[in-house]
Amino acid sequence: ADVKKIAVIAGDGIGPEVVAEAEKVLKRTEELFGYQFETEHALFGGIAIDEKGTPLPEETLKVCQSADAVLLGAVGGPKWDNNSKELRPETGLLGIRKALGLFSNIRPAFIFDCLKEASTLKPEVLEGTDLIVVRELTGGIYFGEKFRRETANGQEAVDTCAYNVTEIERIARQAFEIAQTRRKKLASVDKANVLETSRLWRETVNRIAADYPDVELEHVLVDNCAMQLLRRPSSFDVIVTENMFGDILSDEAAMLTGSIGMLASASLGEGAFGLYEPVHGSAPDIAGQGISNPIATILSVALMFRLTFGYHEAADSIERAVKEVLDAGHRTGDIAVDKSTAIGTLAMGQLIVDAMRK
Ligand code: NAD
Ligand code: IPM
Ligand code: MN
Repeated sequence: ADVKKIAVIAGDGIGPEVVAEAEKVLKRTEELFGYQFETEHALFGGIAIDEKGTPLPEETLKVCQSADAVLLGAVGGPKWDNNSKELRPETGLLGIRKALGLFSNIRPAFIFDCLKEASTLKPEVLEGTDLIVVRELTGGIYFGEKFRRETANGQEAVDTCAYNVTEIERIARQAFEIAQTRRKKLASVDKANVLETSRLWRETVNRIAADYPDVELEHVLVDNCAMQLLRRPSSFDVIVTENMFGDILSDEAAMLTGSIGMLASASLGEGAFGLYEPVHGSAPDIAGQGISNPIATILSVALMFRLTFGYHEAADSIERAVKEVLDAGHRTGDIAVDKSTAIGTLAMGQLIVDAMRK
């Protein structure tokens, strides 16, 4: 049989809680559809620093490299916040993305109709919102040279931002190709009025655009985009942008869906292999209470089925189950209008598993 190997990295904070619910969805998919998954757990992030002395142990990277896909929870927390760069959970996250060649981070943000009231924005503004942020993931200021030096005005810290044409071309092509499967609109977001990397970005995107004449391209400056996302979210289809802008805009886009606890993501390279994780972090403020929303992680499994395995019916089944459970009025605290009716992580996970059908 075709057994798919999935590396499971729970991480820190609410990571293990939300990943446990996603694993139940994997199990239910096996029962319903007859697929076979072999999961292998690996240490990563803060817990790996504590147990192995490094956020990304060699062994963990090997487990990921020999898998067909990776399911990741979240990393980080106050315990490690004052550590040096090499001993930070976030450094492990950047390291794993780079080591696995995952240059493209796909973050879909769409509104379930019944959640319009959960958002902090007006329901009529959210109507029809269905966008994807395509975030460049292995370049830019995250990966440029960083250092400190002494100056006459005290210590100075430097982070450099660099992008080459190859990096911009490959992410632009992915974004155009995704737009071709959707409403054929691409917004390329940059700061070309100030940044040299953005000017190269814009030139390159314009050149690549000639290969995708059916896609309507607009260039939007990042500050304006941050504003337009709240003013006219439904007018966006695909947004392509560099690493840090994408990080910020996707958290903003999360609120269009009601909560960051709803936003799934896929990190891809050139092939079918992918790393799937919620957009949110380890949420130390609610970790260990059993109240986190597992939907972002569960929807990340649906993305894995679609983009890495081509298991579209199983992906449909998950997405339908999530919709059904939300339509029935079940809410975790982050998406509940009346917080007193909120259910916990386990209950939400179980409801979704029970609602899955072939
Ligand atoms: P966060 O996303 O962890 O939390 C932001 C807010 O959203 C918090 O109030 C949190 O309670 C809430 N929230 C997040 N996910 C939720 C969920 N599933 N259900 C309900 N509420 C949820 O961001 P932060 O607080 O800025 O960062 C906390 C830690 O997580 C930091 O160490 C950061 O570096 C790390 N982080 C990791 C990842 C990742 O692993 N991919 C992503 C973002 C942040
Ligand atoms: C994310 C996170 C990470 C990022 C951090 C934790 C390194 O915010 O996945 O969005 O900035 O990429
Ligand atoms: Mn982020």
